[in-house]
Amino acid sequence: MEQKKYRIGILGATGYTGAEILRLMARHPLFELAFASSERLAGQPLTAEFPKLTGLPVGETRFIGLQDALSVPVDGIFSCLPHATAAEQLLPFVDKGEAVIVDLSADFRLDSAELYEKWYCKHPRPELLAKSVYGLCELYRDQVKGCRLIGNPGCYPTSILLPLLPLLRAGRLVEPRGIIADSKSGTSGAGKKATETTHFINVHDDFSAYKVADCHRHLSEIGEQLSKAAGTEASILFTPHLLPVARGILSTIYADLKPGAGEAEIRTCLKAQYDGEPFVTLLDEGFPKLGWVRMTNRCVFGLKVAAGKLVVVSVIDNLTKGASGQAMQNMNIALGVEETLGLL
Ligand SMILES: NC(=O)c1ccc[n+]([C@@H]2O[C@H](COP(=O)([O-])OP(=O)(O)OC[C@H]3O[C@@H](n4cnc5c(N)ncnc54)[C@H](OP(=O)(O)O)[C@@H]3O)[C@@H](O)[C@H]2O)c1
Repeated sequence: MEQKKYRIGILGATGYTGAEILRLMARHPLFELAFASSERLAGQPLTAEFPKLTGLPVGETRFIGLQDALSVPVDGIFSCLPHATAAEQLLPFVDKGEAVIVDLSADFRLDSAELYEKWYCKHPRPELLAKSVYGLCELYRDQVKGCRLIGNPGCYPTSILLPLLPLLRAGRLVEPRGIIADSKSGTSGAGKKATETTHFINVHDDFSAYKVADCHRHLSEIGEQLSKAAGTEASILFTPHLLPVARGILSTIYADLKPGAGEAEIRTCLKAQYDGEPFVTLLDEGFPKLGWVRMTNRCVFGLKVAAGKLVVVSVIDNLTKGASGQAMQNMNIALGVEETLGLL
C-alpha cells in the first residue's frame, strides 16, 4: 500500500532557511510542496528567486501571498519569517488548527512571555507560549510527538544546549552557574539581507566578536533552557563571533565541574543520552571541524577536562541542524513519520 503523502507549506520561502527547507523537501519521500509564500514575489515562479531550480518541475511552482496561503489545505507549515512578523502572521494559521506548525523564529521558543517581551517585543498571543513546545528534538522528542505548534530552537542555542542539557539534568556533574560559551558562526546566520557587518568586505579574511558577553537575544532561550534543566537559576557568558565562511557554527563551551565529577562520568552521561541518536555524536577523542557537518543535520562534539573545567567543542550547520534540518526533524516527529526522512 502506498504511504500517505503530507502537504507542506513554507512561509517566507525566499530566505536562507526557506531555501534550505526547499532543498531538504526535494529529498523527502513523503512531503510534497503545497505552497511557498512570498509577499514580494507572489505570482512569480520559484525560479524568479532561485534560478538554479530552472529545468526542475519545482522551479515552475508559483509563490503565493499569505492571504492565499490560508486557503490551501496543508498538513504542515514551516514558518521561515523574521521574529515578531512570524507570531503575527502565523496566528490565522494557528487559529485554523489544521496543520502542524514549526516556527523557525524565536516567537514560540520561550516559556516566559516576560522574557520574550524583554528581549524581543510584546507577544501578540502570550498564552500560546504555554502550548508550544521547544523543539530541541533529541531532548524534547516526547513533547514534540503529536504537538501542533513547535518553536524551533535557535542556531547558537542548539550547538550549546545539546552537550550541556543532559549534564545539567543529571545534577551532579557540572555547575549551572558561570558557564561560558564562545560561538563562531558563518554569515548566513544573519539572513540574506547584507548589512555593513555582514558585507563581504567586512567579513572576508577577517574575524570578530559581536554582542560581547550579555546582549545577544539567544541568551534568553539559552538561559531559560539551562535553568530548566538544572532546576535552579543557571548563568552563562555567551559571546558570538562572525566567521568568514558561509555556513556553520563552532561553539567552545566551558563549565566548572561539581566536586567529585570527572571526564569518565561526563562521557557516561552523554553516551547514555546520545548513543543511537542518528544526528548527535560525541567523539571518543579529539575535536570536530566545521566542515564535518556542513549541509547535514548533525551535531558533533568532543570534550576534555582540564584545570577543573569541562571544555566542549561542538559543531553544527546553522542552516540545517541549527534551523531547517531540525525543523524538518520536528515536522517528521510531530506528524509521526520516520524521524530521519529527508535528512542526512
Ligand atoms: N539564518 C539562520 O542561520 C537561522 C538559524 C535559525 C533560525 N533562524 C530564524 O529563521 C527565520 C528566517 O531566517 P532567514 O535567515 O531565512 O531570514 P532571511 O534570509 O532574511 O529571510 C526572511 C524571509 O522572511 C520574509 N519576510 C521578511 N519580512 C517579511 C514581512 N514583513 N512579511 C512577510 N515576509 C517577510 C522574506 O521575504 P522577502 O524575500 O520578500 O524579503 C524572506 O522570505 C528568522 O526568524 C531567523 O531568526 C535563522
